[in-house]
Amino acid sequence: MKTEVFRDTDQLYLAAANYVLAAIKKNPKIVLGLAAGNTPIPLYKKMVEAHEKENLSFSDITTFNLDEYVGVDQEHPASFYRFTRDHLFDLTDIDHLKTHGLNGVASDLKAECDQYENLLKMAGGIDLQILGLGPNGHIGFNEPGSDKSSRTRLINLSAETKSKIERSLFFDRDIPTQGLTIGVANILEAKKIILIATGASKANAVKNCFSGKESAQWPASFLQSHKDVIVLLDGASAK
Ligand code: F6R
Repeated sequence: MKTEVFRDTDQLYLAAANYVLAAIKKNPKIVLGLAAGNTPIPLYKKMVEAHEKENLSFSDITTFNLDEYVGVDQEHPASFYRFTRDHLFDLTDIDHLKTHGLNGVASDLKAECDQYENLLKMAGGIDLQILGLGPNGHIGFNEPGSDKSSRTRLINLSAETKSKIERSLFFDRDIPTQGLTIGVANILEAKKIILIATGASKANAVKNCFSGKESAQWPASFLQSHKDVIVLLDGASAK
């Protein structure tokens, strides 16, 4: 595991974008694993800029989102698929047919997860996975208690994640209590992983996840056994 700490977040996102854009230039048919949430927004902005200013094409890349809320359709403003569409797909030449997101309103959620596993397999797995980090150490919706062999599945959201959803103001009622997520094992199968964590609210998770010990209580700690992980931190999260 390689850790890089940046004094300012601009430098951090410049480094993150350099890794991602270099990987796309090297392999225009790359399979990218995408996170939603606040963390990747500046990275996706830089990808959009590279498309606009450098004419870099993303038309051959394939994407797989990490997770989705159960009961939220992909048009809903809180949908993670919609998030990646609004921040990345619609602003570049990414082929929508090559983008994938779990369907949180599928009538058979187990079948939806199995089908996602198949799609991932057919795509040859993820080449480069982009991750944020939950303050409780979650990656995707692999909440505390998720083990290393976990795969794409339905999961109950933790109290911490639910309170974040409440604060996000996307919902005045029917706050999601469950999610669909690719598992820790799926993430560990990615050839390369870039995890970004910024801000003081992530410092405790960073300490517990990357201190050497692996534990299902801190799911991101399993990343430590992956052979190509880059963890990008700012001063506050690294504290
Ligand atoms: C989102 C996801 C989550 C977030 C994490 C951090 O697709 O999988 O694991 O990466 O909750 O969220 P932010 O970036 O909003 O702090």
